[in-house]
Amino acid sequence: LSVPVICIDGPTASGKGTLAVEVAHDLGYHYLDSGALYRVTGLAMRRAGLEADPAHETQIADLARTLPLRFDAGKAMLAGEDVTDEIRSEAAGMDASRVSALPAVRSALKDLQISFRKLPGLVADGRDMGTVIFPDAPLKVFLTASAAQRAERRHKQLISKGIQTTLDSLRSDLEARDLRDSSRSVAPLKPAEDARRLDNSNLSIEQSVDQVLNWWQQAQ
Ligand code: C5P
Repeated sequence: LSVPVICIDGPTASGKGTLAVEVAHDLGYHYLDSGALYRVTGLAMRRAGLEADPAHETQIADLARTLPLRFDAGKAMLAGEDVTDEIRSEAAGMDASRVSALPAVRSALKDLQISFRKLPGLVADGRDMGTVIFPDAPLKVFLTASAAQRAERRHKQLISKGIQTTLDSLRSDLEARDLRDSSRSVAPLKPAEDARRLDNSNLSIEQSVDQVLNWWQQAQ
């Protein structure tokens, strides 16, 4: 009997994380934030003085395969250091996007992602959960929202943390990241053939959660 898994993929700042955490909480399932693995890999790369460049691909993949990483009560701990805030910056998002385009890095992180699939079930969010990591998942959701909405949400989030940015620069950052994520040759951001599309531009978090839980009931 295979362990149930719900995949939630979509572009930057589409609200995947919030939705996935809520759904996992409601179902009592485990949660995988696959983007955090790429973010931590980007950070480990910086600290090792490497660049997200094919010339350093093998070294970065080795770092990814042996990350001393633990998730503890929603905190990302790298070798015992709390890096939760550091990996959330826009710069860390860009680094994550760059390392994630390196095929050896993606394959180095594959087993780690699959190891999160444990009973009673898993909700996984990212870019390729439904297409590459869990292709047999009974429910795949492709979550989108307009670029304007996504930039505005990210802006509010950062302002509430006291981080100054402008809407324009956020929007151009997220569009650049989406373009790289969608156009890379390995595991590009795209909906799985059997994914359900959900545009949450005009939905509350509760409405999105209800939709996913409904689909999950139908998928049983
Ligand atoms: O989801 P998040 O913004 O944290 O992801 C950071 C970056 O990591 C993304 O822009 C994407 O390039 C990469 N990523 C990926 N595959 C995943 C999750 C994230 O390539 N499954």
